[in-house]
This record gives sequence, structure tokens and C-alpha cells, in this order.
Amino acid sequence: MFPSSLLILYLTVTLVAAGPCDIYASGNTPCVAAHSTTRALFNAYSGPLYRIKRASDNATSIVSPLSAGGVANASAQDSFCASTTCAITTIFDQSGRGNHLTRAPPGGADPSGPDNLAPARGAPVMLNGKKAYGVFIAPGTGYRNDATNGIAVGDAAEGMYAVFDGTHFNGDCCFDYGNAETSATDTGNGHMEAIYFGSAGGNKGAGNGPWVMADLENGLFSGGNRTANPSNPSMTSRFVTAVVKGKPGHWAIRGGNAVSGQLGTFYSGVRPSGGYNPMKKEGAIILGIGGDNSDRGRGTFYEGVITSGYPSDATENKVQANIVAAAYATSS
Ligand SMILES: *[C@@H]1O[C@H](CO)[C@@H](O)[C@H](O)[C@H]1NC(C)=O
Ligand SMILES: *[C@@H]1O[C@H](CO)[C@@H](O)[C@H](O)[C@H]1NC(C)=O
Ligand SMILES: *[C@@H]1O[C@H](CO)[C@@H](O)[C@H](O)[C@H]1NC(C)=O
Repeated sequence: MFPSSLLILYLTVTLVAAGPCDIYASGNTPCVAAHSTTRALFNAYSGPLYRIKRASDNATSIVSPLSAGGVANASAQDSFCASTTCAITTIFDQSGRGNHLTRAPPGGADPSGPDNLAPARGAPVMLNGKKAYGVFIAPGTGYRNDATNGIAVGDAAEGMYAVFDGTHFNGDCCFDYGNAETSATDTGNGHMEAIYFGSAGGNKGAGNGPWVMADLENGLFSGGNRTANPSNPSMTSRFVTAVVKGKPGHWAIRGGNAVSGQLGTFYSGVRPSGGYNPMKKEGAIILGIGGDNSDRGRGTFYEGVITSGYPSDATENKVQANIVAAAYATSS
């Protein structure tokens, strides 16, 4: 006879809400970086989400979730920044590996100085009826970490997803989130593997964009080669889930509406020719810029992760269900 206590334990464990990174861990492709200003990405995470700095006196404060696994405490930001402006100085890594994102240093494409910081009130949003703030990237804004822990290098496998504002983009280079050069310079084809979102590049998808593409350095790819990919649709929903993943000899682009429905697969196949196979990933993390600090793109980032290992489509589909359940909505 099946012991009823074991059955109850099983039901309890499976019914506990799992965050995106709990889901990736169950699929044996754990998060090695997890960034969000809107919510915890592990069910048990109650640590810092992001740090803000206010203009009136340069004091800083940390915003954490309202509860473990929960939405950011936006009222902490609102009270700290009342009657002045605040900027986001740090987006903390929730994975425990210390892969925090801070102001991007100058780089090959823009050596003029460090990039700008995002205004803390730039991207108000609601999650399950609770207010939070995303990261508003205007041209010139960027975050980076050039000394990471556990991020894929060389041809090692990794996965990524991010949630973006599908209505905030441009056709310039490069609103990215993902793996890039540690030197902030263009070191050649295959030295990046990052999600790109926008309408830039010669290798477009269907329609007028914006598209989820991959920035693999010296090329934004909508599919397996330097041609348009009609299977990669324009992503015009207000909230977009974007996925790029790669492993030796193979990679994929997926995406969907972050508020409803499932992910589609826009490309899954061989690496492009011309220096992209094998990959030469360097393991830095960028947000809002290209690997060489090309900082002319724009967009809004709400949450994103990088995994170790190539996540299965099934794992990503569960992550998409979790994102849908977070109920992103515009703020009134
Ligand atoms: C804040 O720091 C900046 C840069 O160091 C400085 O220029 C500015 O005067 C400081 N503002 C205040 C209010 O201390
Ligand atoms: C949210 O932040 C406010 C303002 O700092 C604080 O008073 C409140 O206790 C915080 N709420 C939680 C649940 O931590
Ligand atoms: C480029 O990729 C498309 C599909 O993504 C394929 O139909 C086409 O044959 C490819 N072209 C070359 C030159 O490999």
C-alpha cells in the first residue's frame, strides 16, 4: 500500500510555486545569473533585487522582494526617491554567484566614458496587481559584468531568457542581454551569444519587427544564416518573452507573448558559417548594449537569466507558464 504521508509530501513539493530558476534547476540547467528589478526568480529568494541612488544627496538604498519569491517592494523605492530622482546602480544576481550588473565601462564602440544608468522610475509595471519597476534603457545606457562566475565560455552550452517591453525598441545597435566579450571590444565572430530585441540588422524576420534575434558578434541573426528568416515573426505584444540558447554545433531562438500563450520556436538548427562554429564565448554579461559597448539601442528589461547547459524546450515552456502567471500588466 502506498504510504499516504509520502503522497502528501509529493503533492506538497509539486504544488509549491516554483520560480523560473527552480524550474531550470529541475531541468538540470541551473541559473548561473538571474537578474530582475521586478521580482524574485527563485521561490526562496528574498535577497536584494537592485540598488538605487538618489540625486538629492547621492545616498543609496536596496530594493528587495515583498516576500520570498515575491514582487519587488516598489514602495521602498517610491519613499526613498520621493521629491528627487533615482538611478539604478546595481542589478543583483539572484543565483548566488555574484554576477551582478553595474554601470558599463567605456568600450570599443563608445570609448567616451562609462554608460548612463537607467532612471529608477523609467519603466513602471504591474505584476499580479502589485507595482514594480523595470530597467528603462535609452541610448547611452548600459550595464555589464566582465568578471563573472559560472557563465559559459568557449563552445560550452547555455540558455537565456528575458522579458522585454515589445513596444520600446529601435533599429540601432544593440539592445542585448547575454554573454559577451570581457574586454568591451569586438574580438571577432562567435565571441558573443546574447539575446537582441529590436528592428536592427540586415537579417530580419517577418514583417517590420521588432524581432527576437541573437547577437553573435558582427551579426544579428534571425535564423541560421545571414538571410531574412520568415519563421521569425514580429513581436508586437506589450510584453515579450525572448529566448536564445546554444550548444556545440546547434542553437535556437524562441519567443512569445509574456502575458499569454506559449513559446514558439523561430529557429533551431546548425550554427551560422563564418567563424560562429565552434563558438568562442567569453562569459561577460551585458544588458542594453552590444559586446563592444555599442550603446545606440533602446528597450526595457524586466527580468532575465543565463543558465549553465542547454535547457530543453519543455523546461522553457514551464518557465513561460511561470512568466504568464506573474501577470505582467501596464501600470495605470
Ligand atoms: C553626487 O555625486 C556626483 C558625482 O560624484 C557629484 O558630482 C555630485 O555633486 C554629488 N551630489 C551631491 C548632492 O552630493
Ligand atoms: C517595503 O518598503 C517599505 C518602505 O521602505 C517598508 O516600510 C516596508 O516594511 C517594506 N515591506 C516589506 C514587506 O518589506
Ligand atoms: C539560410 O537559412 C534558410 C532557413 O533559415 C534556408 O532556407 C536557406 O537555404 C539558408 N541559406 C543558405 C545559403 O544556407
